[in-house]
Amino acid sequence: MPEEIAELVSEIKRLKEDREALILSHYYQRPEIQDLADFVGDSLELSRRAAATSARVLVFCGVHFMAETAAILSPEKIVVIPDPEAGCPLAAMVTPEALRARKEQLRGAAVVSYVNTTAAVKAESDIVCTSANAAKVVRSLPPGQEVLFVPDRNLGRYAAAQNPDRRIVLWDGYCYVHDQMRVADILKAKAEHPAAAVLAHPECRPEVLALADGVASTSGIIRFARESAVREFIIVTEEGLLHQLRKECPDKRFHLASPKLVCPNMKRVTLTKLHQSLYNLEPRVEVPEPIRERAVRAVERMLAIS
Ligand code: 13P
Ligand code: SF4
Repeated sequence: MPEEIAELVSEIKRLKEDREALILSHYYQRPEIQDLADFVGDSLELSRRAAATSARVLVFCGVHFMAETAAILSPEKIVVIPDPEAGCPLAAMVTPEALRARKEQLRGAAVVSYVNTTAAVKAESDIVCTSANAAKVVRSLPPGQEVLFVPDRNLGRYAAAQNPDRRIVLWDGYCYVHDQMRVADILKAKAEHPAAAVLAHPECRPEVLALADGVASTSGIIRFARESAVREFIIVTEEGLLHQLRKECPDKRFHLASPKLVCPNMKRVTLTKLHQSLYNLEPRVEVPEPIRERAVRAVERMLAIS
């Protein structure tokens, strides 16, 4: 490690102790951020961890909705995001106004919101889900009840396929990183690595998921790779996950399905910005209390069932 990077890392560690902070990182973060974090996880694990910690400060290395979920669950804590511009374009595909209008049309439908939404959208929702528990969350609702699933149409379709007895109306949102994957990308990767199993994130299109040997959240993909007898994998999710896969399974081989699988928003967090945010305890992520009060019900309802 170059000397100036080593100095920055040790200064971040010192500041972390001084500020009584916990550094949380999503698997799509840069390797050096993942390595520094106290905890690396998928969206579900990160929200659980945010709810459970006694730390005074949470530094959330991820995109904005993730830090906001931590702020919803822990209003007494200082929640900091190293780059406030790190947004999720999928979360921006549903606004509270548009959701209210759709609820008006579908009177009586229960709103299941993917965690990749703003606090204001969560406040309009009955229950939140993540990619790890979407099917289970849908199943937790009364059998005859119509469901409005927002905003990811691919995850919604995936959850619907596991709940064929439910009526599910999909919002037309998508994650452009995963949605850009095509059957041809997977076939090309399979031709290059014929012995590899394909593991895909449910934000991919159904025809891509149909080619996968396993479909799971980021943590689920790690678990699958660890427990499988297979030694080689094609990974169809954001490239940051490969760092963790290679750490956890050093004897196995991992290939990214396509070089297009990069989320630039996740990569906005750098060591320098992490250092600055710990030093200044800024920028903070705060949710106005009237919104938080309503959003927390939907998040806690999810945490109670999964
Ligand atoms: P996970 O819930 O699997 O961590 O995914 C989050 C995400 O943003 C996927 O694009
Ligand atoms: Fe949002 Fe997609 Fe990036 Fe995940 S990978 S944070 S869903 S844009």
